[in-house]
Amino acid sequence: MVAVMSDSRRVIVSHLPEGPLDPSDFTVETVPIPEPGPGDVVVQVSAITIGAGQRAGLQGSASYAGAPTSGILMGGSGVGTVIASGSDSVAVGSKVAGPTGWQEHALLPATDLRVVPGDLDDALHLGVLGTNGLTAYFGLLRVGDPQPGQTVVVSAAAGSVGHIVGQLAQIRGCRVVGVAGSDEKCRLLVDELGFDAAVNRRADDFRDQFKAATPDRIGVYFDNTGGAILGSALFRMATQGRIVCCGAVSAYDTASPEPSPRGIPGLLVNNRVRMEGFLVFDFADLYDDGRAELAGWVETGDLEPRHIEYEGLDSAPGAFVDLLAGSTVGTTIVRV
Ligand SMILES: NC(=O)c1ccc[n+]([C@@H]2O[C@H](COP(=O)([O-])OP(=O)(O)OC[C@H]3O[C@@H](n4cnc5c(N)ncnc54)[C@H](OP(=O)(O)O)[C@@H]3O)[C@@H](O)[C@H]2O)c1
Repeated sequence: MVAVMSDSRRVIVSHLPEGPLDPSDFTVETVPIPEPGPGDVVVQVSAITIGAGQRAGLQGSASYAGAPTSGILMGGSGVGTVIASGSDSVAVGSKVAGPTGWQEHALLPATDLRVVPGDLDDALHLGVLGTNGLTAYFGLLRVGDPQPGQTVVVSAAAGSVGHIVGQLAQIRGCRVVGVAGSDEKCRLLVDELGFDAAVNRRADDFRDQFKAATPDRIGVYFDNTGGAILGSALFRMATQGRIVCCGAVSAYDTASPEPSPRGIPGLLVNNRVRMEGFLVFDFADLYDDGRAELAGWVETGDLEPRHIEYEGLDSAPGAFVDLLAGSTVGTTIVRV
């Protein structure tokens, strides 16, 4: 069927994955472009972002996302332009960011959207100034609170959250060690993003390399993965070190996650380590401050956000699979 101007395409979760995610878990359907009611706007979506946490949502392990459901629009953040408005506060032509989902046109209450500057690339709105950038900012600086000279370790270090965490730790004057899934990513972290060291989690002698990379032990471990990397970090924590539990990507894309690491609570007690989980939403009142500081560092060049781009809505399921397999660097952006 040929789509006409009044049609809009969207990605549906056709069934919930039981093992690793597959593009066939999604289908694309065509629906009419919606009309806005009072207080609503219709957004023509130009880009969406995909994050690892969305896999936790499909798994049912992200309590804030509610119970996973099939047969519905795949959720997620996007950026676009308002093409019809029933709202007094957001005019047609405004560029907005918010929970558009994976679709070409989103009908949303204007109050769910924030108007963003039109002259910045969508990738910045969705990456460093979006949820993942704010996660790195508040998770590291507020929850981890690293001090100059301390060693900060981050897992999934070349990923969307991780590569920003590492750079923020450098801005704080810390020694920064990344853990990533390939030698190529480790080289990028050190040679291009200024990390002091990086260790390949897939190396046979990972534990030895990890120990060698943390000679002064770990002041703050920013944990994106849980699993074996958390297990190794627990044994390298400095006295009164802090573990920031951001996510557990090692457990998302599988029906049989690795068991939780050994050593809890003994290692925490002996080394007086604080282990703290957080959700970025806890800091919603402070997002504007966070975005202003992050944007300042991007402008001065102290922070260099990276992203990978996919073209077209149909590429989104494959991009999600790539992200979970570790093939992406920085924030994953799909240009709709
Ligand atoms: N707490 C919050 O409010 C909040 C908000 C947003 C995101 N998050 C969390 O932040 C973390 C990172 O999310 P992101 O969107 O930035 O994803 P990402 O880091 O861009 O992508 C996920 C990365 O995880 C790594 N990975 C995949 N399988 C793994 C495994 N079995 N063991 C270890 N590492 C594995 C891969 O990197 P390598 O292969 O290079 O290791 C992959 O690139 C996730 O845990 C997410 O849930 C939390």
